[in-house]
Amino acid sequence: MASGCEGAERPLPFRVEEVPEDEIKRLQGLGFEDYPQLVRTEPTLAYFRPSYARLASAFYNFEFRPDDVVVLTYPKSGTNWTSELVWALRNPEALHLGERVAASERCFFIDMDIHRPTLPAEGDPTYQRFVATCPKGRVEDGVQLQLAAAHKDPRVIKTHLRFDLLRQDLLDTCKVVYTVRNPKDTCVSYFHHSSNNIRSKFKGDFSNFVEAYISYGINYGSYWDHIRQAWQRKGHRNLHIMFYEDLKTDIHGELRKLANFLQLDRDDDQLKAVAEHASFEQMKSRHERLSTNPMIRNFFRKGQVGDWKNAASEELNNKMDEWIRENCHGLDISFKYE
Ligand code: A3P
Repeated sequence: MASGCEGAERPLPFRVEEVPEDEIKRLQGLGFEDYPQLVRTEPTLAYFRPSYARLASAFYNFEFRPDDVVVLTYPKSGTNWTSELVWALRNPEALHLGERVAASERCFFIDMDIHRPTLPAEGDPTYQRFVATCPKGRVEDGVQLQLAAAHKDPRVIKTHLRFDLLRQDLLDTCKVVYTVRNPKDTCVSYFHHSSNNIRSKFKGDFSNFVEAYISYGINYGSYWDHIRQAWQRKGHRNLHIMFYEDLKTDIHGELRKLANFLQLDRDDDQLKAVAEHASFEQMKSRHERLSTNPMIRNFFRKGQVGDWKNAASEELNNKMDEWIRENCHGLDISFKYE
């Protein structure tokens, strides 16, 4: 079986524990009603559905390969945009494939197995692909993990798992692109993502969500722990950090830097074609045509900088500002909010 971790299994250097009932109740009270159980990593917290406990070791031991490009982000920071840009830069002659092969089949979102409240089963297109590709695989060992492991060509792998939850030699093995988005727009985008989730809808309002976002980080832990782990690695030859806001203002310049990082020789026309291929409108239209199992309604929502102004009252904005002030120490990042 191609599990992606055939070598000696490294023990986890962190603990995975059940979240106590009183905390679950508090989160449910804020609107996360469909989360009867959760686990979390200790000592650096990240909250997950219980399936993470079963898969933590598989994630931690997942074998990356030198020709992988890993797109690593905090949720709602532009992960899908980044991975589409990476894929298109790598495959400028095959952009037409994007018209018939869904992005989820060209780039592997290995965390997906954590998020499904139930395991994929017959009738599910991903399950059918899994059975065809990994006939001896077990669904409970991670469908996306095994599909990614079985893929022989250079891979684009998406994950929101922090650096400490993945193999410690990740950056010595392959290239990682980390995209940062300002924490307010990330929060608003995450709120809509959670409220538009078909299977486990967030039932609270935006102020409830902000409370959960700044106190728990919800899935994947605190925004700050996530960013800080990337920022500490800044300057590593295999790490490229980009900002969502810069992609919005100067896609051509950012693509040029990204292509250089990926050691790809692309001319201006090719960069232009990549930018168009990964434009908000084109990605949204392809997603609506090709996505076979959308869990989130309106996934390509607005794609703008500064939407937090439409969601946050003055009071909530002050609260977020205070949270940012308290947490941004040691990060020389000037976030762009508009
Ligand atoms: P909004 O909810 O603010 O619209 P992720 O891919 O990490 O889940 O991030 C999703 C966010 O990125 C959403 O933000 C989505 O609309 C935005 N997005 C996706 N593709 C984009 C693109 N091509 N250009 C700009 N924004 C994009």
